[in-house]
Amino acid sequence: MRTSAPRPVPLLGDLPAFRRDRLAFLTTLARERGDLASFRLGPYRVHQLAHPELIHHALVVEAARFRKGPVLQRAKVVLGEGLLTAEGEHHRRSRRALQPGFHPRRIEGYATTMVATAARTADRWTAGRPLDVHREMVRVTLATAAATLLGTEVEDDAEVERVESAIADLLSAYKLGFVPFGWRLQHLPVGPARRLRRGRGSLYDLIDRTIAERRASGDDRGDLLSALALAEDADRLPDAELREQALTLLLAGHETTANALAFALHLLARDPELDARVHAEVATVLGGREAGAADLPRLEVCRGVIAEALRLYPPSWAMSRQAIEGHRLGGQRIEAGDVVICPPWVVHRDPRWWPAPSRCDPDRWTDGVDHQRPRWAYFPFGAGVRRCLGESFAWTEAVLVLAIVVARWRMHPVPDRPLELEPLITLRPRGGLWLRPERRAGS
Ligand code: HEM
Repeated sequence: MRTSAPRPVPLLGDLPAFRRDRLAFLTTLARERGDLASFRLGPYRVHQLAHPELIHHALVVEAARFRKGPVLQRAKVVLGEGLLTAEGEHHRRSRRALQPGFHPRRIEGYATTMVATAARTADRWTAGRPLDVHREMVRVTLATAAATLLGTEVEDDAEVERVESAIADLLSAYKLGFVPFGWRLQHLPVGPARRLRRGRGSLYDLIDRTIAERRASGDDRGDLLSALALAEDADRLPDAELREQALTLLLAGHETTANALAFALHLLARDPELDARVHAEVATVLGGREAGAADLPRLEVCRGVIAEALRLYPPSWAMSRQAIEGHRLGGQRIEAGDVVICPPWVVHRDPRWWPAPSRCDPDRWTDGVDHQRPRWAYFPFGAGVRRCLGESFAWTEAVLVLAIVVARWRMHPVPDRPLELEPLITLRPRGGLWLRPERRAGS
């Protein structure tokens, strides 16, 4: 493990450098100050953990000594006490209650919706006209999440647009979480606070309607809310809580996958050889028909490209935790209130575990080969008790949607719109990700 002495810091600590370029800051920090580097961000003493063993320690072995970091604590303004932000016993109980919605058989059912939505979207594109593939992928994953989780009509464009605009309202209110007493401001009749209430109100109406319908008919229509609304009394969440959970799943369950898909298309656009290999696999496995869940085991190269997109551009680029109690970690004293950052962005590009780290190489993921890297050198879905609940949902959706797009379109870079990264809550392309679609022969 690489270590070095902590460096004295000025009053604001490293906040200005961090704000200027978060990704470069974390990478340089690991290179210059080692695997466990301590610094100051405003009021917080922060420790970056840039080694798989340290990640394992913080997220798995010592998970009970931490709670979520300050950014997610503030996200409660938007998400309430949904699974992503809940802690302790409340988290354990909610996770148990939501689990049945992610049973493999249910996810297989969701696959039909994923495929239909992706095909409908990709069939609307125009050859030769530059396209913001990030926005398109957000449309696909949001429509899919709304249909599979909340039971909305995926074919109903107006309903999908209502969900989209409610989410835009909610996210614009996220900044409330970053001002002192932001929680209280949500009750005032002003700008972001009003939008927050409007967005949340509109989504809660939709959720309440679905719960009432499912209960009245007793029909399980295959969506996640059906599973939750019709659960046995002992396992059922109170309705008020069900709403917060449904909202959390809708938000956690779409942009991350959309980002992974957009970055995967970017990787293919800049590597024609790899693109040809992925297309050959899709053509052989599907033979001209639409993809389905049963094809997943044979779409190995597609899966490898998604795995590489998640490695090179991890949507959760830096997970953070705040220590509840003082303890030692990797020889360093962590005090209660200190923040630790576990950065997939840094670890996923470390040449000690990833030879030629910036190369997109799906063969790093070939089954049955010992790839000789530590288990926690890769953790795009987190680790331990807070690991992503939607991981198999995300893999199913990402691989199927990629196959559907590749079957129809070859993507090209748009030279005057190069990729620029924007590391906010998720790592996303700033100003969209622009590619030029060319129709494949015979599609
Ligand atoms: C490529 C797509 C995705 C990525 C990269 C991703 C990543 C993550 C990560 C890193 C965490 C843990 C955060 C932490 O430890 O602080 C997480 C948690 C979570 N994710 Fe995902 N996610 C994805 C897709 C999804 C989908 C599709 C859903 C739901 C349909 C979902 C629902 C959740 C939930 C509910 C949690 C909270 C789990 C808990 O705290 O028990 N995610 N995700």
